[in-house]
Amino acid sequence: MTRRIILDCDPGHDDAMAILLAHGTPEVSLAAITTVAGNHPLALTTLNALRVCTLAGIHDVPVAAGCAAPLVRPLFTAEDIHGKGGLEGHEWGEPSVRPVPEHAVDVIVDIVMSAPGEITLVPIGPLTNIAMAVRKEPRIAERVREVVLMGGSFTGGNVTPAAEFNVYVDPEAAAIVFGAGWPLTMLGLEVTRKAAADEEVFRRVSALDSPVARAVVGMLRFYQRQQMSAVGVSAPPVHDPCAIAQVARPELIPCREAHVEIELDGRLTTGMTVVDFRRRGGVQPNATVGVDLDLPGFWDLFIGALRSISGVV
Ligand code: BDR
Ligand code: CA
Repeated sequence: MTRRIILDCDPGHDDAMAILLAHGTPEVSLAAITTVAGNHPLALTTLNALRVCTLAGIHDVPVAAGCAAPLVRPLFTAEDIHGKGGLEGHEWGEPSVRPVPEHAVDVIVDIVMSAPGEITLVPIGPLTNIAMAVRKEPRIAERVREVVLMGGSFTGGNVTPAAEFNVYVDPEAAAIVFGAGWPLTMLGLEVTRKAAADEEVFRRVSALDSPVARAVVGMLRFYQRQQMSAVGVSAPPVHDPCAIAQVARPELIPCREAHVEIELDGRLTTGMTVVDFRRRGGVQPNATVGVDLDLPGFWDLFIGALRSISGVV
């Protein structure tokens, strides 16, 4: 069965890969793409989403811009990982896809309210839009099918020793989202760091020999250089497509139930996802947390999606 999703993103190289995976995977259908400030300011994440849609031929999915800043804190971006100008590594022309005039928060509320039990929200950036949507219309918590997010970790962060980027940028929004009482799956760094693009992945994507595949190789090579200079990693992890993989093929990502709270006041730990697997003292789980990734299955899914977008049989 096809799962309808709203992909809330901040492209970003790995967000771009998630858009492509969502578009090319038959188990998933895009109800909307919404953008948020995160890896870059909002104008750039929105432009980048439109660029990727144009590249992949995504013309019938509404793209809506959302919140330009976190709920409380100033925006913290990730140029060290994703570059200054946006999706470097590919020569982008003017996008032919245009955004809709509605705000992302309204798009999320309207789509979820009009399709009870159907929509899966897939946030792969800071959780500002999702928190605003559930504050604006709390009934979406009962109407969504599920929230499947890329963010957090239970063994240390990437921005700080404790905090993962998406939660670090807007921890107050993350606290609202984890506390909203809806079915929620968290795919943190323990899963997504495993989704590393090694030379065999580059070879398989290059072999598709299509404009989309060439753009992916260009973007991933740039992202690889950034990861190498920022953190010394030669096979760059493509975090965000893991959330799409979980929706399309849940069996690829084993999960465990846990109670997750967001650290808001830590001296060294603000933005940490405090993940409690213990089931002690009557604490109830509020999330399902990814603990592993079937790596060959993940890359087969990703390359299959690129093959389908590329029209390669
Ligand atoms: C997350 O941070 C961003 O830089 C990526 O796009 C991903 O969503 C990984 O921590
Ligand atoms: Ca992202």
